[in-house]
Amino acid sequence: TIRSIHARRIWDSRGRPTVEAEVTLADGATGRGIAPAGASRGTREAIELRDGGDRLGGLDVSQALAGIRDEIAPALRGIDALKQEEVDERLIGLDGTVNKARLGGNATVAVSLAVLHAAAASSGMPLWRYCAGGQPVSIPLPEIQIFGGGAHAGRRTDVQDFMVVAQRAQSFAEALEITAEIYRAAGSLMAERGRLQGVADEGGWWPAFDSNEEALDALVSAIERAGYTPGHEAAISLDIAASEFGRNGRYRLAMEDRELDSDGMAEYLLRWCERYPIVSVEDPLAEDDPDGLARFTASVGDRMQVIGDDFLVTNANLVERAAANGNVNAVLIKVNQAGTVSEAKAACAAAKRAGFGTIVSARSGETEDVAIAHLAVGWDSGQLKVGSFARSERMAKWNEVLRIEEQFEAGSVGIRDVFGRGK
Ligand code: PGA
Ligand code: ZN
Repeated sequence: TIRSIHARRIWDSRGRPTVEAEVTLADGATGRGIAPAGASRGTREAIELRDGGDRLGGLDVSQALAGIRDEIAPALRGIDALKQEEVDERLIGLDGTVNKARLGGNATVAVSLAVLHAAAASSGMPLWRYCAGGQPVSIPLPEIQIFGGGAHAGRRTDVQDFMVVAQRAQSFAEALEITAEIYRAAGSLMAERGRLQGVADEGGWWPAFDSNEEALDALVSAIERAGYTPGHEAAISLDIAASEFGRNGRYRLAMEDRELDSDGMAEYLLRWCERYPIVSVEDPLAEDDPDGLARFTASVGDRMQVIGDDFLVTNANLVERAAANGNVNAVLIKVNQAGTVSEAKAACAAAKRAGFGTIVSARSGETEDVAIAHLAVGWDSGQLKVGSFARSERMAKWNEVLRIEEQFEAGSVGIRDVFGRGK
């Protein structure tokens, strides 16, 4: 049972304050959970409680910490940490709002994750195994950013993530090695063109390009330079994050200096899908454009993964509705969008029931917390998105999956492709 919860302010990968919760159980087991932070957030996500005002850009979290200390800790004392759902229901009830606006999703997610860590420790299991609950699981396929744009790079490109998927890798270790070569090749290509300007928020090369297509062409060149065939060993995955520049059916492409309607935006992307080896597209249209998403998915859905991130915000009800309406065929799973472990798990389960792909994902503001590496394995999500192949808040998660892969016993399910097909 939960004995105490300590909350402290720590700092994330952008040097901003964030919430860490540390749970101690009666048997002495402990667990820590940390809230990540997004920069391109969906409007229906759990609210991040920030102090506001002038200090630290208004981003301090003292109210969120006070809520843990004064309300959450007393309310959870004595509850069985192995009963994650009961813990999370208590958090939801205590907050009392639909979007965790009162206590803050950053407070609830830190506590929820800390309880999960403590329960696994108390059970003497690695977190992934505890989360698997005896069910068969697999090692996720990583989608890894090479160029980071959009809200993560001062809107230098309209598209947010230019990623690669080593879709034919036989192991996670091999997928990372292939990606490392491509990341390196992309860096040297940028250097030769006099375009190397450091990295964006998630570690991808800063996208000093004159058009979105130039970034795509550079990505194809980087795959070739690394010695691979685009669309074979390595395919392209994009996060358009269209809610960042699209609203009310109008899409404002700053790089192209033009505005498109929903169909125009879809056609623009469909042309890319014909010209480039793209296997997955996330948020191709804005969160307020469900009909556009449904049309886009209908035209590509059988040969491409279409992921809802801002559109579905890790919400089981929204996932079920999207399945009924055919808006997308896959869902990003971010625990802090939901605000508790159980709600994120429910969204993941709803997605699987619908036959959707599931991609456990980090945020652009991250920390040394590697919980999502374990959740991706334990929930058998099939795919993992963490950002690029640089900066230790990213590498910590990739490296953790390497360790988990070593713990897999012979005969367990290996890595699959984006459509969940085994090798
Ligand atoms: P965010 O974006 O973490 O900055 O919100 C990540 C994503 O859109 O997948
Ligand atoms: Zn996204």
